[in-house]
Amino acid sequence: MSNNGTALLEIKNISKYFGSVIALQDVSAFVRAGEVTCLLGDNGAGKSTLIKVLSGVHKATEGEYLFNGERQDFDSPREALELGIATVYQDLAMIPLMSVWRNFFLGSEPTKGWGPFKYFDAKFGKETTTSELAKMGIDIRDPEQTVGTLSGGERQSVAIARAVYFGAKVLILDEPTAALGVKQAGVVLKYIVQAKNRGIGVIFITHNPQHAYPVGDHFVILRRGQVFGDFSKEEIPLEQLVQMMAGGADLEALKHELEEASQQGAAEAAGLAETAEAIGSDLPELGETPGEQGES
Ligand SMILES: Nc1ncnc2c1ncn2[C@@H]1O[C@H](COP(=O)(O)OP(=O)(O)OP(=O)(O)O)[C@@H](O)[C@H]1O
Ligand SMILES: [Mg+2]
Repeated sequence: MSNNGTALLEIKNISKYFGSVIALQDVSAFVRAGEVTCLLGDNGAGKSTLIKVLSGVHKATEGEYLFNGERQDFDSPREALELGIATVYQDLAMIPLMSVWRNFFLGSEPTKGWGPFKYFDAKFGKETTTSELAKMGIDIRDPEQTVGTLSGGERQSVAIARAVYFGAKVLILDEPTAALGVKQAGVVLKYIVQAKNRGIGVIFITHNPQHAYPVGDHFVILRRGQVFGDFSKEEIPLEQLVQMMAGGADLEALKHELEEASQQGAAEAAGLAETAEAIGSDLPELGETPGEQGES
């Protein structure tokens, strides 16, 4: 098991009950700055419940929550956000008919003293949006473009850039690649790596080990509300991660389906290999080093 001495965020023995339903039981995990922690698990494993605890939506029934080594007990998501724990939900809370720059600043007031939105300077808003997106390698032709005209991957990317700009220290992404095709998923994976390289502790929730593996530093596998495995990348090859996700015995039952899907899977794997290569070749160019960011 990996050393968690330098954890930015850590949970110890967290349980969450909904009446008699045990959604999480005795879950311990940690997130380091400048690393991508992948949270993997099947439907109903407890992934969303865990991130809701991390983001202050739910209170844990039991257990300890530490941020920067200090105990936390959030009463609302706002309190988590104020500490820099930002969550990008799948539906993104963006308004399709509004421009990219208006959406960029929409509802993101983690910094105190900004005042109401109407005092906001449009010129500053547009310029900041364009330059912040450019820093993430996203080239927006016109910040007046409506969000509805962006692709799913671009929308996710804007949401990630927005969280980074507003000073996220921990960035939680709930299934950001789930609805995306291979190419667009690749784009989002690239921004995950960029956020990590800016020193953010990224929590990447996914069903898909093929998406997790190229970008992840550390993998936490949830099963029926419990931690089924916790590995650093060196400790686990992709094949084993896939197998753990499917879960030993269940794998036999899945064999049939997997065989049917294997042709499609081969095509996807080839696409992801390309993506992984693209990510790899991008790494040396990224100027930011962990720790430089965070005062915005
Ligand atoms: N508010 C709630 N009330 C009762 N049970 C809940 C509630 N939220 C989650 N659960 C239960 O907790 C378990 C874990 O759910 P959760 O949504 O965390 O799973 P998940 O890993 O995110 O699944 P998926 O991949 O399908 O999104 C499920 O059995 C679910 O029915
Ligand atoms: Mg979920």
